Amino acid sequence: MTKLNQQHSLLKIKLLNFRSYKEVELSLCNKHVVLCGPNGSGKTNFLEAISLLMPGKGLRSSKKEHFPYIEDHDQSIHNDWAIHYTLKRGENVHEISTGVQSLTTNTKSSRRYKFDGNFLKSKDISQLISMNWITPTMHNIINGSESLRRNFFDRMISALNPSHKNRLNKLEKLSRERTKLLEKNIKDESWFSIVEQEISQLSIAIIVERQNFTAKLDEFMASPNSSFFPKVRIIWSGMVEEWLNGKPAIYAEEKMGAYLEKERLDRSFSICGPSNSVLKIWFGDFGKPSELCSTGQQKSILVSIVLAYSKLLKNKKEFSPILLLDEATAHLDEEQFQAFFDESLINSSQIWMTGTDKYIFKKLEKSANLQYFVINDSNVTQLVDL
Ligand SMILES: Nc1ncnc2c1ncn2[C@@H]1O[C@H](COP(=O)(O)OP(=O)(O)OP(=O)(O)O)[C@@H](O)[C@H]1O
Ligand SMILES: [Mg+2]
Repeated sequence: MTKLNQQHSLLKIKLLNFRSYKEVELSLCNKHVVLCGPNGSGKTNFLEAISLLMPGKGLRSSKKEHFPYIEDHDQSIHNDWAIHYTLKRGENVHEISTGVQSLTTNTKSSRRYKFDGNFLKSKDISQLISMNWITPTMHNIINGSESLRRNFFDRMISALNPSHKNRLNKLEKLSRERTKLLEKNIKDESWFSIVEQEISQLSIAIIVERQNFTAKLDEFMASPNSSFFPKVRIIWSGMVEEWLNGKPAIYAEEKMGAYLEKERLDRSFSICGPSNSVLKIWFGDFGKPSELCSTGQQKSILVSIVLAYSKLLKNKKEFSPILLLDEATAHLDEEQFQAFFDESLINSSQIWMTGTDKYIFKKLEKSANLQYFVINDSNVTQLVDL
């Protein structure tokens, strides 16, 4: 039986005024965790609270105004919420908190982190934590819009390298400023020339970072460990990717700078770069494009990507990721779910799973120790025996 990889796991978690939870605390032992309960009981809210250990919008990409607890029939708005985590990292145990505390009722404060009593920047926290998840809505990443796919990959890359996120934010800001001046027909040649050079440099750096990341994932997915998961191949394509093909980055930067200048002089506002890149995904060895795959095949593509990302996190970060599986049984049949769990045991530390039926998880006990919690109307109780 595989023991829980104790390198990186939660020992305790306390939610205060978060989503449907007024106050709840869970103490955990050396086991993976199952949260079961009926629809609407608070399972995803709980996993979302864990996901906020990582900076960002959490596993539902939520708006921040949705985080504070809203009492039924209570129209008053409370902004404050907090989550306290006791996290074991290797031999050390750390107290981490995140949340929002408004100084006065009128001020809107942003989310902050405390690590062992001291405030810490998000980028420093993201270096310390390793986390991966799968949720039912992530199916849209395979059959939804290009921008959903780009955002999904950019989030994964940023978790490994926070400067990727900074570059994306800076590029968006500069592109917006450039478009504004173009719309106003302002002809400031030297300003445009500096900004377009900067846009080109940022764009190429972002695209190269994406390509390096994807090449690594592609390598893992081209030779899956388990026969339950298909070969999956992924590659970025686009105008800039063409320029980069076999050429140095400086060549692509110059090409893009020249392209932006020509478009501007032609009064055409079209733009190339990271927001135009297309991620191509194939089921099998460059066999079937993902958009032509069946629902089941698309689900196994998603699972393959999540597994490969766990593997990458395990290789690149200090610790294997904490893995959150929200209704993962909805993505997979029984045998696939067992294979997915067994594979995840190799590349993850603590695994958290949710479901409406606790007996679905019983079979996993032949591979690992599980502890069960039942959630009813946001009340959590530990199950001693199934
Ligand atoms: N900010 C909030 N304050 C109070 N309640 C909230 C807040 N946000 C969401 N809820 C409620 O929390 C409840 C539990 O939601 P959650 O998504 O965790 O359910 P779930 O157990 O995952 O259900 P399902 O099995 O359907 O996915 C829902 O009734 C939801 O409307
Ligand atoms: Mg849910």
